[in-house]
Amino acid sequence: MDSIWIQGGKRLDGDIQISGAKNSALTLLPCALLTEEPLTLGNLPRLADVDSFGHLLNELGVSTKVAGARRGNASRKMTLTADDIASTVAPYDMVRKMRASILVLGPMLARMGEATVSLPGGCAIGDRPIDLHLRALEALGAEIEIAAGFVKATAPKGRISGGDYSFPVVSVGATENALMAAVLATGRSQLFNAAREPEIVDLCNLLVGMGAGIDGIGSSHLIIDGVEALHGCSYDVMPDRIEVGSYACAAGITGGSINLIGARPEEMLATTNALVQAGLAIEFTGAGIRVTADRPPKPVSVSTQPYPGFATDMQAQLMAMLCVAEGQSFLEETIFENRYMHVPELRRMGAEIEVHGRSAIVQGPRQLTGAQVMATDLRASMSLVLAGLAAEGETEVLRVYHLDRGYERLEDKLSAVGATIERRSGS
Ligand code: EPZ
Repeated sequence: MDSIWIQGGKRLDGDIQISGAKNSALTLLPCALLTEEPLTLGNLPRLADVDSFGHLLNELGVSTKVAGARRGNASRKMTLTADDIASTVAPYDMVRKMRASILVLGPMLARMGEATVSLPGGCAIGDRPIDLHLRALEALGAEIEIAAGFVKATAPKGRISGGDYSFPVVSVGATENALMAAVLATGRSQLFNAAREPEIVDLCNLLVGMGAGIDGIGSSHLIIDGVEALHGCSYDVMPDRIEVGSYACAAGITGGSINLIGARPEEMLATTNALVQAGLAIEFTGAGIRVTADRPPKPVSVSTQPYPGFATDMQAQLMAMLCVAEGQSFLEETIFENRYMHVPELRRMGAEIEVHGRSAIVQGPRQLTGAQVMATDLRASMSLVLAGLAAEGETEVLRVYHLDRGYERLEDKLSAVGATIERRSGS
């Protein structure tokens, strides 16, 4: 297994081109199922999860054609055509590798009148049930059956009717599945307490580009008037706001200055506000965001919340930076029940962190020291890379496949701004 090796202590300085957003790409790709016409997605990030999703869609009979080099930094385009769906079953061995596979349920049900998806297991950060996905689809007129580890959704009259659903908990994935089902319903649907993440807005914008009728985009009350059919279109994936925030923390932890090209400040104000509170200089440059740290970070208190609050996907990275902050910081993880898996590994690098349930107290400043560390999930991996950039000595982050799921060309991008970092092929 490959690992990432880092010689810490370098101040980072320069430009980083931001890639397309993983969490948008993974909900835009299944939209190909909604039409028999070609759907072309540009600015697709080169990520393991995007490749896995392409393979899943191929299993279902969707043809995919990629333009743009497999390597290098030119943006990648994929054209998907689902004019002949061969199967409505998403198999266990593919779903277990990538939970986002559950996002074929809604569009497949909408297009074919039925869909069967293996139940995704839990993962390192939590149980991650899909009950809200299923309740929402039932409210839109689907019949749901669970047997032998699979969930089967069926439209009794061949096409779902549409309906109203109020989410008891804000759920990004459940909102996405409900949206992709409602657009081809025979009637009107309303979603209340829907997720408002920028990735949901990206999904709505694509669906409208395909001919869907959606009102309330960007709000928690979405009104969808089903249409007979959707057409293909070309659409570029939004930039990855979590990648932006992760590299902003790299500037903060190394005392550097990084120009994040392509970043959209308006989509990540909770993150930029937290970084400003930590004493970083944040400049909206028109081409993106320049982040500069000319002194050690100050301590902050942050609680993760659904958008527009501070993103749970940024918690581990901010925590790494706060290990070198001058004082005591307080973090609260309100979204997932087990998202502090990075803490034991950060402690092995010299961090002083106390965890009490959903809360964590980070005592700084601590001089981090390099170590061999093990990643357990995508964002935990990134927090260990960030700690390695600031640590004295060498750090080796193992199980780098976690990183490859969510960060495109991580070592190239960090080397280009002065980090001493390389990928080492494992045994
Ligand atoms: C999406 O996951 C993202 N993944 C996650 O990013 C992100 O952390 C999360 O949204 C929150 O923003 C993708 O977009 C592919 P949720 P999702 O449904 O949709 C509970 C990353 O690192 N819940 O908004 O699975 C759930 O357990 C990943 O890029 C139910 O109880 O998250 C959690 O506590 C990690 N029942 C809360 O809701 C359900 O049916 C929010 O989960 C669904 C969710």
